[in-house]
Amino acid sequence: MKTPYIFATANQKGGVGKTTTAITLGSSLSIFGYRVLLIDLDPQASLTNHLAVEPEKLEYSVANLIISGSFNPSEAVINKYRLKNGGCIDLIPSNINLARIEAELSVSTGGGLKLKEKLKFFYDNYDYIIIDSSPALSVLLISAVAASDEVIIPVMSDFLSIRGVDLLLSTIDKIEKALDSRCTYRLLITMFDRRTSSSIRSLDYFKNKYKNAHFNSIINIDTRFRDASMLRKPLTYIDVHSRGALDYINVAREIIGDFNNGVNGRRTKDE
Ligand SMILES: Nc1ncnc2c1ncn2[C@@H]1O[C@H](COP(=O)(O)OP(=O)(O)O)[C@@H](O)[C@H]1O
Ligand SMILES: [Mg+2]
Repeated sequence: MKTPYIFATANQKGGVGKTTTAITLGSSLSIFGYRVLLIDLDPQASLTNHLAVEPEKLEYSVANLIISGSFNPSEAVINKYRLKNGGCIDLIPSNINLARIEAELSVSTGGGLKLKEKLKFFYDNYDYIIIDSSPALSVLLISAVAASDEVIIPVMSDFLSIRGVDLLLSTIDKIEKALDSRCTYRLLITMFDRRTSSSIRSLDYFKNKYKNAHFNSIINIDTRFRDASMLRKPLTYIDVHSRGALDYINVAREIIGDFNNGVNGRRTKDE
C-alpha cells in the first residue's frame, strides 16, 4: 500500500521555527502538486492560528481524533487550500483541549501510539503529513515521533542551540527503543544570518558534527515570515519569490528528490 510520508517537527526549545517549518514546508510541497495534511499537536495552537482558524471556536480538534474511539476522523479535518495543480493543504487544528487529554494519554497504556493508529484513516488522501510538535519532552512528543517516518529538527545557528540538539536526539532514541518503532531525523538550520561571522562558524561546526543528518538547504532570516503570520497565510502563498519561501521550496525539492532517487522510499507502516 502506498502510504503518505509522515514528518514531525521537534525541538524542546521554543521559537526555533518548528511551526514556521510545518506551514512553509507544507505549502511548498503543495505547490509541487502534493496533497499535504498539517496536524497541530501543540496546545498553544500556533499552527492553527497561523492558518486563520480560531482555536476557541473549534467544534472538533486533534484531541477528539486522538482520544475518542467512536469519533469519525474526517470530522477533525479543515480543508484550507485547494490548488489548481491538485496540491492542497488540510489542517487538523488544536486548542487547549489537547493539554487536557495529555494527562489521560500519559497514564493510559499505549497512549503515545494512539495518534499513529488514527493516522491510518488518512493514508489514501495525502502524500505528506506534517505534525507540528509542542516545545516539551512530553507524551505529545512521543505521539509525534511514534507516528512519523522522519523528524525534522529546526535548529538556530548558534552554539547553544546546536548543543541542545543532543538532548533531543537521545530522547528520540529512547522513544524509538521504548516503542520499538523506527524513525529517522534530519536537522534544519533556521534563521541563519549570513552577515555574522558567528553564524558562519556555527554552521561549519554544525555540518561537521552532524555530517549527513541535515538538510543541505538552510533557512535564512527573513522578516517576511512575520508578515505571513500577521496575514495568517503561508509565506509561500503570499510571496513565492521571497527569500524565506525560496529556502523552504529548496527543502521541499530535497525531499521530493530523495523519493525520486529512492534514498528515502515510502514504506508501509506495518513493516
Ligand atoms: N527564517 C526566519 N526568519 C525570521 N523569522 C522567523 C524565521 N522562522 C521563524 N521566524 C519567526 O520566529 C518566530 C518563532 O517561530 P516559530 O515557527 O513559531 O517557532 P516554534 O514553533 O519553534 O516555537 C515566529 O515569529 C516566526 O515568524
Ligand atoms: Mg510552534
